[in-house]
Amino acid sequence: MTALTRLPSITMPLPDAIQGFHLSTSPQSERLLQLTFPRETVEAFLAAVAEWPVQALEYKSFLRFRVARILDDLCDNTLQPVLINTLVDRHTGGFLVTPEGLDRVEQADDMVKFATAVAHLMGRSNFDAMSGQYYARFVVQNVDDSDSYLRQPHRVMELHNDGTFVEQDTDYVLMMKLDEQHMQGGDSLLLHLDDWEGLETFYRHPLARREMRWTAPPSKKVAEDVHHAVFDVDREGRPIMSYIDQFVQPKNFEEGNWLADLSDSLEGSANKLSVAVPIGSFVLINNHFWLHGRDRFTPHPVLRRELMRQRGYFTHAKTLRNPRQV
Ligand SMILES: [Fe+2]
Repeated sequence: MTALTRLPSITMPLPDAIQGFHLSTSPQSERLLQLTFPRETVEAFLAAVAEWPVQALEYKSFLRFRVARILDDLCDNTLQPVLINTLVDRHTGGFLVTPEGLDRVEQADDMVKFATAVAHLMGRSNFDAMSGQYYARFVVQNVDDSDSYLRQPHRVMELHNDGTFVEQDTDYVLMMKLDEQHMQGGDSLLLHLDDWEGLETFYRHPLARREMRWTAPPSKKVAEDVHHAVFDVDREGRPIMSYIDQFVQPKNFEEGNWLADLSDSLEGSANKLSVAVPIGSFVLINNHFWLHGRDRFTPHPVLRRELMRQRGYFTHAKTLRNPRQV
């Protein structure tokens, strides 16, 4: 368990020995941990929560925390401290989570329940205005007529943070693959801020702290603009970012060109990780010091990918200096 022993104990003591799951570093990077739940844990969890359909979790928010406790109990309460501590650990802060045996789209509701349990051991998922629920499922197909790059398959979705145009803290991002057919390419792209070659240059620039305006297109169902700088610092004074190329509205030539340079630098980073997320698995990252995006896919007339996302705030350890939700 080298991954475990490297983690500093931040808010909860780490268990001496973990139960009910496996933890290792991912092949892509030591920063991204692979968290695997063996079939026995997954099946025991699904049996224990079988009385509640996903709709019950939608209607009764407290049940999301109850299913979380059920999962942690099955892991002898060794899961929660690992999740809480890792997500705010600057050296890692990210997982690829694989519940074994959950790998077919027919199990999509069970996938949502499982991901909900993991998320609610360390946080609470925000209301997602796009779906009107605490999570959103959405489909990527060969042809798309939406107003952002979220569902457009044939191009790269550039590296960004989530929650840039909402007034809620978005401490974590969870992205789960529910289905995939006739897909080639389209891997998740991830970049840890401390691996970005341009961090020092852009973070030290006078525009790094200038408030900019962020707006969302109509599909996001967010009416108000928000204002904040691209960079801030975390509780320990380290750089964090809140940036997305499509929704920032530079007010002039200077801001526009600085943002264009920043975008080029991020996209040109040699340290981006490319992660193939299998059906039923999900990426779970600290949204303040990990950027995420998506590689392009090869067009195919009947390609289909379905994803589920949850974004929310941390309920235990914090990254932000001044969290809105405490
Ligand atoms: Fe995103």
